[in-house]
Order: sequence, then structure tokens, then C-alpha cells
Amino acid sequence: MRILIVGIGASGGTIATRAVSAGMPIWLATRTEESAGVLRSTGLRVSGIGGTAIAGAVQVAAIQEYREADKFDLILLATKAHDALEMAPFLASLLVPGGTLLPIQNGSVSEILTDRLGRVVLGGLSNLGATMAKPGIYEQRNAGHLLIGELAGGLGDRVAKIARALSGAIETRVTPNLRGAVWAKLLLNCSVTTIGAIAAQTMRQYMTSRAGQEVFRRMYDEALSVALASGTQPERMFVEPIPPGWRGTSIPGGDYDLWIERIMASYGDLKPSMLQDFERGRRTEIDFINGYVAELGSQIGIPVAMNAATTEMAHLIEQGQIQPHPARLDDLLLASPR
Ligand SMILES: NC(=O)c1ccc[n+]([C@@H]2O[C@H](COP(=O)([O-])OP(=O)(O)OC[C@H]3O[C@@H](n4cnc5c(N)ncnc54)[C@H](OP(=O)(O)O)[C@@H]3O)[C@@H](O)[C@H]2O)c1
Repeated sequence: MRILIVGIGASGGTIATRAVSAGMPIWLATRTEESAGVLRSTGLRVSGIGGTAIAGAVQVAAIQEYREADKFDLILLATKAHDALEMAPFLASLLVPGGTLLPIQNGSVSEILTDRLGRVVLGGLSNLGATMAKPGIYEQRNAGHLLIGELAGGLGDRVAKIARALSGAIETRVTPNLRGAVWAKLLLNCSVTTIGAIAAQTMRQYMTSRAGQEVFRRMYDEALSVALASGTQPERMFVEPIPPGWRGTSIPGGDYDLWIERIMASYGDLKPSMLQDFERGRRTEIDFINGYVAELGSQIGIPVAMNAATTEMAHLIEQGQIQPHPARLDDLLLASPR
């Protein structure tokens, strides 16, 4: 299987290094010729969980150097969400007939691309924690995996074939309910990650305030209501996606508090990746996280005031008009009264 990996950042670089060092037939695509040149001269190295792997010689070029003659069976799309949407139509032209485009971004990218490009897209999700110290040098931070499946549901031959191929590089699991898995992660990204980024705090810190608890509950409840109303049954990640005692809204109290504790045991002390984007002045993926929930909720008539206000606030932070701060959570409650 000829495989092209597009976007050699933290995730793509980690997967690419393990794939090349395992002897898989892999081509890599960077955004610029300059980045491709760096990787050609230095090679790639990943350390951390899963052990060290080195890819000395890599076949890498800037994406615009690839032509329709360079056909691939599988293109793994590992850029950020905005770039993925922009690149996808061109990448589809690089596939052999029956080839597959596999996006692994957080949020709604797989769903949007499937709507736009159809069956050529296979749904993907990355539970791999990875960082890039500099181009060519990556660290795998957890024993995570890729999860793939058909957005339409079920498990077909191509899912098994692609999982087998990718497993040579990185653990790849399959699910007949990829949409449910995407939403399970989206529910936590919408709440745990985005709220922490806006407040410039970890979940454990912001959950000590009443505003933090209220914003979390309303953000999660809205997103879950949108998932359920759109016909998606979120899959279990490490907690049940539907809080105990759920009656269309979460009911705070004993079992709910224990459920929050379980989320906090995994995520409570992590610095949100979106906060790092704010700090580095980088565009966030908010439009594909809370923005997607707000858009879909509006279309199907589910109240999404908290996710809409949060999306707007994240854009103001990106533009430098306001700063992440715990007081932003009070602002959110004022901006989206019940
Ligand atoms: N890292 C994680 O632990 C993790 C975990 C779960 C999910 N994810 C998801 O995985 C996706 C990728 O995240 P990441 O952390 O790997 O991001 P990242 O480190 O920023 O890597 C993205 C890479 O894509 C490149 N790129 C941008 N436009 C391109 C183009 N047109 N052609 C080729 N390459 C292009 C970027 O190059 P330039 O720097 O030159 O723009 C960068 O090297 C995100 O959606 C993220 O939410 C990441």
C-alpha cells in the first residue's frame, strides 16, 4: 500500500517516523520546500512512549511538488483542521481509484470532508499524544492509538485493510461507530479543553469556582444534546459520555460529581492544547469544536448559547482583543443567560 502522510508536525511526524523506521512504503508532504529540505537532511527521530525510532532517509517533498501521476492508496491527513479542509480536494486527486483519504483531526473534520468528498473519506481520530520539539524531532507522550471507521457506520473491508497497514507504524483500532467516537472526544474537547484555554487554567483549577462548574455543565449538556438530537450515540471513552442521572440536562449531585472526578483523574491537570495555541498566537481549531456544535445545534433547533458565546470569545482572544483569564468564565455566563 503506497501511503502519503501530509503534515509532518507533532502527530504526522511521530507516525511518519515509526512508519519509515518499520520499513513501510511511505512518502511525506510538508507545507513548504524549506521544511522538506530540513527533513531530508536531518531525517526524523521520535522518542518517548513506544521507544525511540529513527528514520534516516525519508522521501519528502513540499505538497505542491506532488502531481496526479504520484498516485497513492492512502493519504493520511495530519495537518490542523483549517489546512485539512483546504488541502483535501487536491489530495483526493492524488488517490488511485478506490483510494482513501484519512483525516485524523479533532472535531468535525471527518464529518465535513465526508459531506464534501463522499466515500473517498474514511473517518479517523487520533488519541496519540505527541509533541514536536523542532522539525524532525518528535516525542510520543502516551500509549495512544489511531481509531478509524466508516462515517456511515459498520466495518467494511477497507477499514480492516487500512488498520492492518497502519498498525505497522502505530496501534490502529477500528470501530463500527466512528461518529460516536468522534463525538465522545468532541464532548470533552468542547468542555475540558476549551474552558481551560479560555480561563488559562487546568480543569482541576477552574472546577473550584462556581462559574467554572456552571460553564462546564452547560457547555457539555448543550454538546451532548446536539449529538443525541442529530442521531449520534457517543461511544464510551474512559467515562460514559452520558452523565449519570441525565434528564436532558445534567443533574449535579453525588453520581454526577463522581463522574466529574473520573474525568478529572485523566484530564484535570493537563495544560489545554488550545491555551498553547493562544499563547503562541496561532489559529485555534475552535470552529471545528465548539463552533461546530453551535452551528449544528442552530440547524437542528437545539439551544447552543454557551458554545456560540465561547466560539465568539475564542476568536476575540485569537485576535488579541481580550486575554485568557479565569474572569472570562463569568463573562461567558453573562453573555449566555439562561
Ligand atoms: N498533537 C497531539 O497530541 C494531538 C492529539 C490528538 C489530536 N491531534 C490533532 O491532530 C491534528 C494535527 O495536530 P498536530 O499537533 O500534529 O499539529 P502540528 O504539530 O501543528 O502539525 C501540523 C503540521 O501540518 C503542516 N501543514 C500545514 N499546512 C500544510 C499543507 N498545506 N501541506 C502540508 N503540511 C501542512 C504544518 O506545517 P507548518 O508548521 O509549516 O504550517 C505542521 O507541520 C490537529 O487537528 C490536532 O487537533 C493532535
